[in-house]
Amino acid sequence: MHTSADHSPANTGLTRRNFLKGAVAVAALTQAPSVLTSHAAPDDPIKVGLIGCGGRGTGAILNLLGASTKVVYPGSGYHTEDVEAGTQVGRKNVKVLGLADLFPDRLQRCRDNLKTLDINLGNEACFTGFDGYQKLLANPEINYVILATPPHFRPIQLKAAIEAGKHVFVEKPVAVDPTGVRMVIEAGEMAKQKKLGIAAGTQRRHMLGYAETIKRIQDGMLGEIVYGSCYWNGGEIWVIDREPGWSDMEWQLRNWNYFTWLAGDHIVEQHVHNLDVMNWVLNAHPIKATALGGRQVRTAARNGHIFDHFAVEYEYPNGVKMFSQSRQINGCEGKVEEFLVGSKGRSNCKDRIAVKGGESWRYRGQEVNPYEQEHLNLINSIRAGNPINEARSIAESTLTGIMGRESAYSGQSVEWDKAYNSTLRLGPTTYEFGPLPVAPVAMPGQYKFV
Ligand SMILES: NC(=O)c1ccc[n+]([C@@H]2O[C@H](COP(=O)([O-])OP(=O)(O)OC[C@H]3O[C@@H](n4cnc5c(N)ncnc54)[C@H](O)[C@@H]3O)[C@@H](O)[C@H]2O)c1
Repeated sequence: MHTSADHSPANTGLTRRNFLKGAVAVAALTQAPSVLTSHAAPDDPIKVGLIGCGGRGTGAILNLLGASTKVVYPGSGYHTEDVEAGTQVGRKNVKVLGLADLFPDRLQRCRDNLKTLDINLGNEACFTGFDGYQKLLANPEINYVILATPPHFRPIQLKAAIEAGKHVFVEKPVAVDPTGVRMVIEAGEMAKQKKLGIAAGTQRRHMLGYAETIKRIQDGMLGEIVYGSCYWNGGEIWVIDREPGWSDMEWQLRNWNYFTWLAGDHIVEQHVHNLDVMNWVLNAHPIKATALGGRQVRTAARNGHIFDHFAVEYEYPNGVKMFSQSRQINGCEGKVEEFLVGSKGRSNCKDRIAVKGGESWRYRGQEVNPYEQEHLNLINSIRAGNPINEARSIAESTLTGIMGRESAYSGQSVEWDKAYNSTLRLGPTTYEFGPLPVAPVAMPGQYKFV
């Protein structure tokens, strides 16, 4: 079964199919035009190309069309009052101009979904194959690109998109190895120079409840932060069984979650959401990771070579310790949250709660659909002439996961500087369908992080 790898608050309990159906319905409902207020941001056209037309990519297009139905005042960032001031204005000058996917069947499924919204793309706008993304990027009309391929391809596709002068929405994580992380940071710097925006699919950053809670923590409500913990303990996610006629390469690409070179392992692919919140709250990245993990239950060949559990102690500046757990094993207790302890109080960001002595605060305001809000924030910032750039923060959160993974794989602590400067690059150097042996499961004590 093909269900979502992510169970973030807005997605909990929904299968991907239901999510898509719901998103189609929402997007269809919001097409009715209404009147722009005089406060609205400039109405520059957003012309979209999607690279990676799977579940999240298709969902992101639909979210974007929903997002484009609202206007928030320029420079509004992430604040409640601005969102409340937003106005429903019908689909605002956003057009989908192109699709690219490695596989024709995946592209067609997305194309069919878009047809239900009366978005009909001709063959000249649809590109397949390993170089399909380059053909899409060559269209000078497209100015906003969504990257939703498996994480391995993100650095090279992001760099190419920025070089081609596009604003970019990147799904998380943004790399699987330090070489890719550095490429993303460089692309982010290039984007700043070219005044191009980059927003990341770490949707908690675009949720009002998270933003308000973290603002209070950073304003000192908990006093000095001394300890944190975060979790993504969940069940198994979707798996694609090998079909006759598929080469090694095709099977790994279709079943990408289970190969470290494609997904980064689940501590990077999924737990990055919670690690990103901790880096956000602490306004820092860890300086050291000491981890253990293994492959205890999910051991079948269909599950590639990744681990099914990790536990990491991260050390941040000033001696702050943060403990992380991530698990993908059915039948175990689930927990997805971010918890902080300070000298005066504690907080659970997931529940939007902060407690100080006998006093407690909870966010009870309006919440947005973060999958829409992330596009809304990017579009608004572009139209306001001051594009947001989340490249460095998502690159650092991705490297935070990679440090934990490499420490668990090797059985050695990993320091930030070593991770950042590592020459590790995973995956083949040329892409073609054919033989590709599955790398062995990492054995702590034997595996070496270079
Ligand atoms: N933010 C979230 O809540 C969230 C939720 C789900 C997935 N994601 C992320 O979105 C990304 C995509 O995940 P998904 O669940 O949609 O996977 P998916 O397998 O459904 O979609 C990936 C698509 O990319 C295509 N593809 C693979 N290699 C390609 C290449 N080189 N060039 C062009 N297309 C290529 C595949 O054919 C497939 O259609 C991942 O990075 C994942 O971590 C984020």
